[in-house]
Amino acid sequence: MEFKIKTGELANQKTPCLVLGVFESRKLSGPGEAIDKASEGHLTKVLRRGDLDGETGRLLMLYDVPGVNSDRVLLVGCGKRKELDRTAYRKAVAAAVGLLNETQTVEALCTLPELAPDGLGLYGAVRETATTTLDKVYRYDQTRREDKKAPKHPLKRLNLWVSKKQDRGTVERAVRHGAAIGRGVALAKDLGNLPGNICTPAYLAERALAQQHQNLQVQILEEQEMEALGMGALLSVSRGSRQPAKLIILDYRGGEEGAKPIVLVGKGLTFDAGGISLKPSEAMDEMKFDMCGGASVLGTLLAAADLGLPVNLIGVVPSSENLPDGDANKPGDIVTSMSGQTIEILNTDAEGRLILCDALTYCERFSPAVVIDLATLTGACVVALGKHASGLFAPEDELAEELLEAGDTAGDRAWRMPLWEDYQQQLDSNFADMANIGGRDAGAITAACFLSRYTKKYPWAHLDIAGTAWLSGKEKGATGRPVPLLTQFLLRRSGELAESGTE
Ligand code: BES
Ligand code: MN
Ligand code: ZN
Repeated sequence: MEFKIKTGELANQKTPCLVLGVFESRKLSGPGEAIDKASEGHLTKVLRRGDLDGETGRLLMLYDVPGVNSDRVLLVGCGKRKELDRTAYRKAVAAAVGLLNETQTVEALCTLPELAPDGLGLYGAVRETATTTLDKVYRYDQTRREDKKAPKHPLKRLNLWVSKKQDRGTVERAVRHGAAIGRGVALAKDLGNLPGNICTPAYLAERALAQQHQNLQVQILEEQEMEALGMGALLSVSRGSRQPAKLIILDYRGGEEGAKPIVLVGKGLTFDAGGISLKPSEAMDEMKFDMCGGASVLGTLLAAADLGLPVNLIGVVPSSENLPDGDANKPGDIVTSMSGQTIEILNTDAEGRLILCDALTYCERFSPAVVIDLATLTGACVVALGKHASGLFAPEDELAEELLEAGDTAGDRAWRMPLWEDYQQQLDSNFADMANIGGRDAGAITAACFLSRYTKKYPWAHLDIAGTAWLSGKEKGATGRPVPLLTQFLLRRSGELAESGTE
């Protein structure tokens, strides 16, 4: 997908399709008014017939509009002017792009960012247009027959029209940021959507290695090396699988030498059957998405490297399967983690925290500025927050606020949950330093409490993305979340948004 910026007289623009926003009660937007004038009231006339009421996402394609150079004009309902927030704006852009893509319109000129959606500003609106467009034209095709890979002529170029020439710099930056986020999201989706028989720990490691370039070094630790490091918790999970575990480490050096790195740790569990504590079979296929945290680490590193962000950034992805087997973990087994703390495994399906705790201990060697882990960790988090927000856990308020804000700004929200000491006792064990489950109550919180015992040596935050990393039902598929939140966090931390007019 290519985005180009256009300015100048709108009616004179030569394009296969001009996209215009229309508000409820047939109110035209700025660009719409200009076209209405050039066509001597053609739009007003059409709208008066009542074919488009302006409801968000409704569409009306017009041909042969007099006085304009464009082959077609696509009217897009944007709802009430006062209610045009990010959600409505996204819906309008997605509807327009969906139609252009389906009708095999290869190129179009979009004026929607000029509608100035509430709270976004021009930078935000343009960036949102880019990410929503990429999101909408995304297709998973890797395991489909060649001739089933549709459409043949998808939307390839979305030109963005802006009224003021002097905004060019802001808009270019917004496109650059939006496109990088979109690419990172697409990578995370691709990896997430792949089935467990293809996307194994070794496959994830290969894909990480393929990302390697001058500023991005990739290292893969094998089971033997993990053994030497004492990663007894991680290795206990992979013992029940024929696929060897991998610890994937990506090291991007964009910042100053010696500047402390930001470390992202992503759960890369390529299939979670639950192990001996076997899951029920209903929707178990969705447990191929249990590596979405790892996929988002790769996606975010791709976006950061794409943008050449001036930060040092490390990605760590512990990757394994969780299957029942004669050699698998059994309820009651006790393992020793890399930290030296012992863990009684009361439920083998609580495996995410077992592979994460060793990866988190491993992170100490980087003297990190901050460690953020992302994991499809608990069904309880889905019960609490549904599919709308990721669960955020962080002992420090300042870091929590920073991440919440990043999520708000990127339209990829998180919601903070408590990490109070009161919950820790639920992890008490009669036989080990801790149990790997904390009972029925507050499952998402006790999982975070478990991780907190391995992250004492650096500032840390945990994102439970069990509800946000993929959609179910007819829309089944990975979402690429929280790549937008994390990239926004990095853009902010690296000072890339400090220039005026970018937020
Ligand atoms: N990967 C799952 C969490 C999950 C479940 C994510 C459903 C999305 C949808 C995780 O490994 C798991 O099985 N967690 C258990 C923990 C429990 C045994 C304490 C869960 O949530 O049921
Ligand atoms: Mn599990
Ligand atoms: Zn899992």
